[in-house]
Order: sequence, then C-alpha cells, then structure tokens
Amino acid sequence: MECKVFEIARDTYRISTFHPDFGIQFNQFLVADDEPFIMHTGLRQMFSTILEGVKSIIDPSTVRWIGFSHFESDECGALNDWLEIAPRAQPVCSLVGAMVNVNDFAIRTPRPLADQELLQTGRHDLRFLATPHVPHGWDAGLFYDETERTLFCSDLFFHPGDPVPLTTSDIIESARAAILAGLNGPLAHDLPYTPLTEGALKRLAALKAQVLALMHGSSFRGDARRAILDLAAVLKEVLGTSET
Ligand SMILES: [Fe+2]
Ligand SMILES: [Fe+2]
Repeated sequence: MECKVFEIARDTYRISTFHPDFGIQFNQFLVADDEPFIMHTGLRQMFSTILEGVKSIIDPSTVRWIGFSHFESDECGALNDWLEIAPRAQPVCSLVGAMVNVNDFAIRTPRPLADQELLQTGRHDLRFLATPHVPHGWDAGLFYDETERTLFCSDLFFHPGDPVPLTTSDIIESARAAILAGLNGPLAHDLPYTPLTEGALKRLAALKAQVLALMHGSSFRGDARRAILDLAAVLKEVLGTSET
C-alpha cells in the first residue's frame, strides 16, 4: 500500500491510503501547525505507510495531538505507535472515550475534551464537538477547525472506491448509494438512527463549514451546511423508519 498526500485546506493535509482488500480509502488528516494535530491514525497495519505520508510534510516526532472520533481500529488502531515515535504526542478524545477506552488502552494519558472545548494548535482553533452515536459509538465526537472552517467528520458521508482527494460536486448521492448498499451487507447498521441523530446533524450543519474531511471518500469543498442537512434527510428516510 502507498499513500497519496493532498492539501485540502491551508495547513491541512489529507493522507489517503486505498486498501484493496476493503475496496475503500482510509484517510488521515494532518493539521501542520505549531503543535501538529493528526485526525485519526488509521489501522495499525497501515502505520508505516501513513508515517511516510506524514514524513513528506513534517517531522513525525513533532506530532503533538492525536484526535479521533470513536474507538475503532481505523480511528485509533495505530495510536500507541504514534505515541512511541512522537514523545510529546497526546491523545485527545471525548470524556467518555477517555474513561471507557483510552485511559486504559493508550501508553500515554489522554487529554479528555468536553463538548465545545477548544484545542489550540497555534494558528488553528479546533473545536471539539461531542456527538454520541454520530456516526457511531457513545464515545463519538468530531473536531471542527474554526480557522479554516474544516469539519473532520469521520465516517459521515462514507463512500467506497478510490475517488479524488477533493471534490466540489455532490457527495450525497455517493453517500446515499453506500448507505443503501450497506443495508444488506455484513456491516449493516453501522450508522444507528437514534433520538440524538437529527439534532447532532443540525448542529453540525449550523457550523457552515467550508470543507468536509471524510475518513472514507473524497473530501468536499462547498456548501457543507446543505450537504449535512441532505445527509440528515437521507438517514431519516432510509434508517429513521426501519423496523428493528
Ligand atoms: Fe467508525
Ligand atoms: Fe472509519
């Protein structure tokens, strides 16, 4: 495997690895600031590949913050590998994430973030948003770079294949097709539709982000508010009324 690096916003690099076995991209993001921030580590088996990508931008040992949405292998599987090569690095995650997983799992104590807490990395202000069960996991949260108006949105808008790094055209149709295709597969019910879903997505839409940084699929530059509201409508239509 090899990775492709693309700057999707100022100081913000998408490090993309297409995994042929899964047929999907695993995208990590680096905010190359005074205190470099990585948004999700990728799978542990991908660590050396992603490390090469980060090395092409900064000295990896200077990484200061490692954020992720929820506790899964593609979000934080390589967390301890990063903590070993970056002596000042610290995990940043939700309070729930720290309490139920990361305090025990990580080889260095995490910095737990409350909802709306600010993480300043130098030029960039990253706002942490606790989003339980969005996209999934009660520990879930997302980071919003208020400086560049980039929302790191984890598994939201998931779409498969190896698409372009950044698109200005519609991502909803790809996301909708992936949600429908997934309903009958072994990974069905990855996005739970809960009483919290609609409110959380409306809150994300209200940010009026300019860029959506997706873990799986193309990043999007454009009317993110519209895209998120459209995603909320798709989830409600497809999942909100399904019988369980
Ligand atoms: Fe996930
Ligand atoms: Fe993921």
